[in-house]
Amino acid sequence: MSHSAAATITARAGIAEDTAFGAVTPPLYLTTTYKLPAFQQPGQYDYSRSNNPTRDTLAQALCELEQGASAIVTGSGMSACLLALQLLGPDDTLLIPHDCYGGSYRLFTNLASRKQAFKLQIINFQQRDWAAKVTAAKPAMIWLETPSNPLLQITDVKAVCQLAKNLNAKVVVDNTFLSPVLQQPLLLGADIVVHSTTKYINGHSDIVGGVLVAKDPAIGDELKWWANCLGVTGPAFDSYMTLRGLRTLVPRLQLQQQNTAELVSFLQRQPLVSTLYYPGLTDHPGHNIAKAQQSGFGAMCSFDLAAPAAALPVFFASLRLFTLAQSLGGIESLICHPGSMTHASMDAAAQQTAGIGPTLIRLSVGIEAPADLIADLQNGFNAVANWLDAQQQGHNATLTGGTVQVTSELNGHCRLNPALTALW
Ligand SMILES: Cc1ncc(COP(=O)(O)O)c(C=O)c1O
Repeated sequence: MSHSAAATITARAGIAEDTAFGAVTPPLYLTTTYKLPAFQQPGQYDYSRSNNPTRDTLAQALCELEQGASAIVTGSGMSACLLALQLLGPDDTLLIPHDCYGGSYRLFTNLASRKQAFKLQIINFQQRDWAAKVTAAKPAMIWLETPSNPLLQITDVKAVCQLAKNLNAKVVVDNTFLSPVLQQPLLLGADIVVHSTTKYINGHSDIVGGVLVAKDPAIGDELKWWANCLGVTGPAFDSYMTLRGLRTLVPRLQLQQQNTAELVSFLQRQPLVSTLYYPGLTDHPGHNIAKAQQSGFGAMCSFDLAAPAAALPVFFASLRLFTLAQSLGGIESLICHPGSMTHASMDAAAQQTAGIGPTLIRLSVGIEAPADLIADLQNGFNAVANWLDAQQQGHNATLTGGTVQVTSELNGHCRLNPALTALW
């Protein structure tokens, strides 16, 4: 999508359409129910679980952005995922990638093993033989997450969709990491797109929500029926807030992507970074595919800290701008340890298969001044370097009350470099 089109859709969604009072900003309809025009005469709306004008305005905007036939706004990203799975029956096979958001992985594996809702197969789309494995699995549905959470691996959506067509399988793409501004999976051949709108689409870390966009109107209708039946549609207030956040999606992403590119070039020169994961790097295995199917490299990156896992508390405690928290995509920068946070629901073996190492750190880059973000990370690396020095000298460095205390057998307690500890 050209940026001007996305910028126009997001800025203008529902603007100046109020027929009652001419309100420029679309009103928030908190009503749960609607008056019938007359006995046994249905109006446009009847009950807000089924339909709500505020939610419809958001759905319409997201549908246009993804260029789909219909969109369903849900109460969370997970309920959007759950909704897509209603297309499957117990004899169908769902094929998922070996690396995806931990909560999605938990949903797929538990629905398959505890409810027999479908059969499940997990494959590595990064391996050369992925097409043979997909063909052999005879899937009814293929789930993609590209770039993946947390390793930013890229899957060729067009290639998977071409194969899926031959196999009569539906392709669902979780587009949370990029938003429709940077990737439009339906135009690459996918059947359904899901988002956690909690992330970039809302962008202010104050609303949990989701959306499902279908390319085929019949699939859209079937899933609308399920959304109402299951009661997974999103609250009107949350839709209002998400619509407000959506208006600035394009400029937010522009800034966030610029900041990420600057941080990545800093991290590339950082000796305490062993591996850097960011599809914008020319040596990233998915770089060329990302360039072809995305219109930007996004604002997420991950790296392995070149230090023992015991150094992680030292690193995190020394940061002042990067907040240690779950989630991503807001205007504030967040940092997370996927192994113990977002992907804790994957067991150790599944984490290892997915490539989530013990010192993997994920950054969601916000709109702060890039120089401040770099200085913040530099403080973290300095703290780890000092900690490693202390370890090497046989001192015992511990973290107490936000400061690193070094104990040596000779000196008892002493503070590490005061210039640095002042920042902890
Ligand atoms: C890629 C991806 N999909 C889905 C979800 C679930 O979204 P929610 O937390 O809004 O339910 C997340 C949450 O982090 C995510 O990162």
